[in-house]
Amino acid sequence: MSGVPLLPERIETERLVLRRWSLADADDVLAYAADPEWSRFLPVPKPYERRHAEEAVARWVLEDWSPHPIWAIEIAGRASGGINLRINHQHRNAEMGYALARRHWGRGYMTEAACAVIDAAFASLPDLARVQAGANARNTASIRVMDRLGMTCEGTIPHAPRGKDLASREAGVIYAVLREEWEEIRSRAPGGLADVV
Ligand SMILES: CC(C)(COP(=O)(O)OP(=O)(O)OC[C@H]1O[C@@H](n2cnc3c(N)ncnc32)[C@H](O)[C@@H]1OP(=O)(O)O)[C@@H](O)C(=O)NCCC(=O)NCCS
Repeated sequence: MSGVPLLPERIETERLVLRRWSLADADDVLAYAADPEWSRFLPVPKPYERRHAEEAVARWVLEDWSPHPIWAIEIAGRASGGINLRINHQHRNAEMGYALARRHWGRGYMTEAACAVIDAAFASLPDLARVQAGANARNTASIRVMDRLGMTCEGTIPHAPRGKDLASREAGVIYAVLREEWEEIRSRAPGGLADVV
């Protein structure tokens, strides 16, 4: 869409660099995505093979940045996960998705990355009203990230489609934060969400 502001291609936080994907990241992606624990709640091919990593990274490199900014999360020089937004400019809404290599779980990295992405989204897109995210109702870690961010649980989806099997259904949850709520959250924690969680 022309005339719509773009989100930054590079975002630096205290511990992370969020940047555009590069084809050279396929090895790093394969290293974490082949882990079945990592993909437990993700609709990715299982087993996850080299060609899947190469195809995924090629897709991410080619994404149209305006509706679908998608960053690699770099930790110590390695692509260690990803975070993205699917922006519906017309509906003033963005849906966030994220995943991180298992070896880095539980250190607050995704809360830090998501906080920076929501900051950038509201700052870059003056018309954006809402950021939402969804998770499988059993994905406690992902739900905890949304809670830590101060997002509100707006409801559950009792029979969300799961994976590629058309008959497969599981409960999901939807969380969201409105612009004015985010401004309030950030005014209480100007230095980062560690202050409020
Ligand atoms: C969800 C995910 C991105 C979280 O990343 P992370 O960097 O570990 O997240 P954070 O450290 O910022 O916060 C995670 C919180 O969940 C908690 N947590 C982590 N694993 C957990 C588990 N198995 N059960 C319960 N809580 C868990 C952590 O303790 C932390 O909460 P706390 O700060 O109160 O202790 C990561 O687990 C992941 O990549 N999972 C696989 C992919 C995925 O499911 N993506 C989300 C799809 S909706």
